[in-house]
Amino acid sequence: MWGGRFTAQAAPRLLRFSESISFDWRLFAHDIRGSIAHATMLRKIGVLTDEELASIKAGLEEIRGEIERGEFTWSLEREDVHMNIEAILTSRTPAGAKLHTGRSRNDQVATDVRLWLKDQIDTNIGAIRALQSSLVDWAARDFDVVIPGYTHLQRAQPVLLAHHLLAYAEMLERDAGRLADCRVRTDVLPLGSGAIAGSTLPLDRAYVAQLLGFAKVSANSMDSVSDRDFIVEYCSAAALIAVHLSRLAEDLILWSSAEFGFVRIGDAYTTGSSLMPQKKNPDVAELTRGKSGRVIGNLMALLTLLKGLPMTYNRDLQEDKERLFDTADTLQACLEINADMLRDVAVHRKACAGAAADPLLLATDLADWLVTRGMPFREAHHAVGKAVARAEELRIPISELPIAELKAISPVYDETALDVFSISRALDGRTTMGAPNPQSVKAELDAWKARLGATE
Ligand code: ARG
Repeated sequence: MWGGRFTAQAAPRLLRFSESISFDWRLFAHDIRGSIAHATMLRKIGVLTDEELASIKAGLEEIRGEIERGEFTWSLEREDVHMNIEAILTSRTPAGAKLHTGRSRNDQVATDVRLWLKDQIDTNIGAIRALQSSLVDWAARDFDVVIPGYTHLQRAQPVLLAHHLLAYAEMLERDAGRLADCRVRTDVLPLGSGAIAGSTLPLDRAYVAQLLGFAKVSANSMDSVSDRDFIVEYCSAAALIAVHLSRLAEDLILWSSAEFGFVRIGDAYTTGSSLMPQKKNPDVAELTRGKSGRVIGNLMALLTLLKGLPMTYNRDLQEDKERLFDTADTLQACLEINADMLRDVAVHRKACAGAAADPLLLATDLADWLVTRGMPFREAHHAVGKAVARAEELRIPISELPIAELKAISPVYDETALDVFSISRALDGRTTMGAPNPQSVKAELDAWKARLGATE
């Protein structure tokens, strides 16, 4: 089937081993777009007549319709999406035999994947915006809820739940930025690089780039056919997004446990146990956490795939597609279902208030109070530590320590010291930029609403 060079048929096992049609068929729309642009350029430089171009275009459009309607028969013998489409086109219109002029599957596949990935990135960024909107809407819904903030998973200082949620909106903003950045380097046309060294025909690459909406034409034909950096960059950005989603998932898993009891995930996004009737499991969050493993694994597979490859195209590169597709599908699914799920989470306000009322969360505020009375912070830290220990000894909350006890620790303490044990005062007092002062969090929330409203 490779024409003149071969006398024996490919072994059936080879066909099954080397085919990519079972997964690269999904590049069909982009392959057809690329072929139409290439044919249009071939007409411009006089390789095709008007009639030939028209029949190639009509044939490709017909094939596209058949694939979309599920009427197209893919064949394993034709190995990949490129040859399947070209072979059927040529069987229907003789001009099809001219389509591959000046083109190789090496520059063709690179072009198809870049076209596909640009669309994919746009879809992913849309899903990131939707998830950010869910976070922002939740933050607005439960704006007045205060929870303990944690470091080392130990209660640290009180924060607005909204502040915690908007932290994820920030991470996702950087994620969207990384995808957009990767899109810039994806937006380069390889077509016209041929198999490795371009063509002796006067191919008009700038014209093809313009037809396909590529911002640039690649500068080095050898680089163009072997470069998969853009896929690595995408999978790397995706791995980091998956890690961020996994962290969010972990927070939700903890918060929905009886031990925390901060939230209840809607029934539509949880499942029961086949044995324990009382169970309500946060499966979406757990699977999101688990799927980060395969997204990270895909990145490792790609880096390993590339590391020993000599210039230029090597068939190994066909192995990039399943990793890329799996990454894109997994990422998009995680973003979408989490955006939905966050709209179905109810906050147990009492449990949050109870946890946030722990006066030890304001121990730092007491140290700050001593600092405002002129005590060096290191001493203040010590003087509060002593008070914490004394309260534990007396089995009373630190906020109820008798003033005499405090004065015994340090004469700087006076009656007003215990005023720091007020959550609203503590939050209002946090006026540093980026802190969970309710007014600044409200301003952040409004800024997010405006930003997300504008990108809708
Ligand atoms: N299916 C191949 C791939 O994904 C297309 C390019 C094949 N090129 C070649 N010279 N065998 O990489």
